[in-house]
Amino acid sequence: MDVATFEAFRTYIYQVSGITLGESKESLVSARIGKRMRALGIADPLSYLKHVQKEGEKGEELVHMLDAISTNVTAFFREPQHFIFLDKVVREWMQRGQRRFRFWCAAASSGEEPYTISMTLAECGALKLDTKILATDISTTVLRQCQRAVYPQQRLKGISPERQKKWFSPDGDDFQVVEALRAPLTFKRLNLSTPPFPMHGPLDIIFCRNVMIYFDNRVRQGLLDECNRLLKPGGYLIVGHAESLTGLLSGFKSVQPAVYQKR
Ligand SMILES: C[S@@+](CC[C@H](N)C(=O)[O-])C[C@H]1O[C@@H](n2cnc3c(N)ncnc32)[C@H](O)[C@@H]1O
Repeated sequence: MDVATFEAFRTYIYQVSGITLGESKESLVSARIGKRMRALGIADPLSYLKHVQKEGEKGEELVHMLDAISTNVTAFFREPQHFIFLDKVVREWMQRGQRRFRFWCAAASSGEEPYTISMTLAECGALKLDTKILATDISTTVLRQCQRAVYPQQRLKGISPERQKKWFSPDGDDFQVVEALRAPLTFKRLNLSTPPFPMHGPLDIIFCRNVMIYFDNRVRQGLLDECNRLLKPGGYLIVGHAESLTGLLSGFKSVQPAVYQKR
């Protein structure tokens, strides 16, 4: 891929998703996009880009392209201390009489994260209350998997055998998350780089983990300001441990690694 073609991809991908591709990513983009070009029988990258642009932001191919560029890697109980924190804080709120809970999982990928949230909430008793979890992602491919909630055995490896037995039912060779954990979830496609978002809040906790790594500080700031608007005072924003947000978190105070409380 020549420099001008890579620049055209870089500019378009940033414009539609906020994802910043470093200049060194040319061969990665070229290889990953090559697979999509072969799938569509398109011979050169610029024609492929035109095809994506013609379909527009609601088009299927844009999702395929972004799926090829970014990673959807996720896992049940990834960064497990966040779910220990969730359990602790929700129990405290329940003890103080709170009976309505709203959570947002902002880059839900194929569902492991929102179902871990749901499992944690079930185990502390919050699913018996007025509790809802919004799961969003830019990729309709992963959102479909999220909604299906079916996972092969090897994806359950972060989950104890007792929990597997309680919260999953066999589905052929695979396992489906039980209805009780699926019921509080709603699914929506949402692009985190284009605030303002169509939600009102107030939210109790936002999980926005391992997605801001793709964004520059301009996009991160817009997203963090929206998180601040949507959270209740005293609500929490949980990010991935690898995310460095120095200087962007006015309006929040740090309470533990990767956990911030709205002032
Ligand atoms: C590495 S996964 C993180 C999944 C999960 N949050 C976790 O920590 O395990 C990143 C997800 O961010 C999504 N994503 C990338 N850019 C996005 C954007 N602009 N808006 C919303 N989601 C985006 C990708 O589709 C992918 O599912």
